[in-house]
Amino acid sequence: MAKFVISNSPPLKGSVKVCGSKNAVLPVLAAGILSEGTCVIREAPNLSDVQTMEKLLESIGVKIKTDEDSGVIELYAQDSLNWEASYDLVGKMRASFLIMGPLLARLGRVHVPLPGGCAIGTRPVDLHLKGFVALGAKIEQEHGYVRATAKRLHGARIYLDFPSVGATENIMMAAVLADGVTVLENCAVEPEIVDLANFLNSAGAEIRGAGTDTIRISGVKSLRETDHTVIPDRIEAGTFMVAAGVTGGDITVTNVVADHLKPLIAKLKEVNLVVSETENGLRVNGDNVHLKAADAKTLPYPGFPTDMQAQFMSLLTLAEGTSIVTETVFENRFMHVGELKRMGAEIKIESRSAVIEGVKNLTGAQVKATDLRAGAALALAALRAKGDTEIGDIYHIERGYCDLDKKLRSLGAKIVRVEDPKNQGDCEKNN
Ligand code: UD1
Repeated sequence: MAKFVISNSPPLKGSVKVCGSKNAVLPVLAAGILSEGTCVIREAPNLSDVQTMEKLLESIGVKIKTDEDSGVIELYAQDSLNWEASYDLVGKMRASFLIMGPLLARLGRVHVPLPGGCAIGTRPVDLHLKGFVALGAKIEQEHGYVRATAKRLHGARIYLDFPSVGATENIMMAAVLADGVTVLENCAVEPEIVDLANFLNSAGAEIRGAGTDTIRISGVKSLRETDHTVIPDRIEAGTFMVAAGVTGGDITVTNVVADHLKPLIAKLKEVNLVVSETENGLRVNGDNVHLKAADAKTLPYPGFPTDMQAQFMSLLTLAEGTSIVTETVFENRFMHVGELKRMGAEIKIESRSAVIEGVKNLTGAQVKATDLRAGAALALAALRAKGDTEIGDIYHIERGYCDLDKKLRSLGAKIVRVEDPKNQGDCEKNN
């Protein structure tokens, strides 16, 4: 198991290119199951989560060719796919559950392990399953597995009780090959949903309204080959933008869609950072900026992203005044608070809110990444902390950030990645 050792760093300066989106590529890979032709997926980030999804797809018979250097994945879901997935791979990553909708649609039956809880909450899949039932599937749950069968799925009107990203994706994928029209209401509107719909439409699906709260899917008989480029990762971009603020630096992130980052940009401006659009990206200048407190509440898109909550909190620990961060999307997403406090942050948790009193300095400490974004938040805080910080369990971070250490180093950060035989992580599952 590896760890990061991070020392107090100068203001980070320069330009950094953002990778393709993890949360967009995972459902797109799962959606490849629906196509009878070869799907070429470009700008796929080189991440352990992507490798887990590839292994899972291979385990059910999908042929995959990956060129890690160019980020191109070719995927061919032949006719004789296996309808059963094993716990070993599904248990590693929640997003594995996204193979359920496409397998059900393509084979008429599927048997997959139920994802359990994880570091940020219980995270049920009831909305996914309700959607499949509405499309005509019979669902049985036994021994930690869920089995769904349907001779033929049919269109339905489905109202999601909560605009779940995963449920929207899973149901949308199942409905693509169903008879008739499916109308999905109160669905998620995240950019990753739009990317998935674009991928499916480019393969012959008929999906309208992705990006609004009502998606209409007219079922088609089959999907064909396609070539798709994944959208840039808005969370990776946001993490580097916050790094500029934490270190008082000046960073331009390239390969970004500024629109996807609107809620974060608004908050960065509120804490006094200067954010501007450049010809090829977004620039955040924190040079000589006096950070001031701000409140933030996580919400489904286009609200403030829960996946940026921890990193933004690292910034607020250094902002003058009292900030309140409220987490409404997940029930238990403050695991980083205890670790930030070990680094000298002043934070109190009151129910679903964290009350942060800005401090002048943080101090280096031995800490652990408890989940992917929490780990990134600790890395950001460590850049400004006096002394050295050791972050353990960085496999969490590496599930979702390509070469975080190299990219930070290229901006001037003092960060090294060292193998640590003493530190054995025990849970990989998360978002
Ligand atoms: C996705 C993202 C994750 C992000 C999250 C919210 C991927 C691979 N992961 O996760 O990074 O943090 O969106 O933006 O894209 N819920 C239910 N029942 C369900 C489904 C969800 O109660 O059937 C609840 C969850 O427990 C959670 C909330 O809905 O409290 C949001 O979850 P959801 O939007 O489904 O997140 P994911 O798709 O798991």
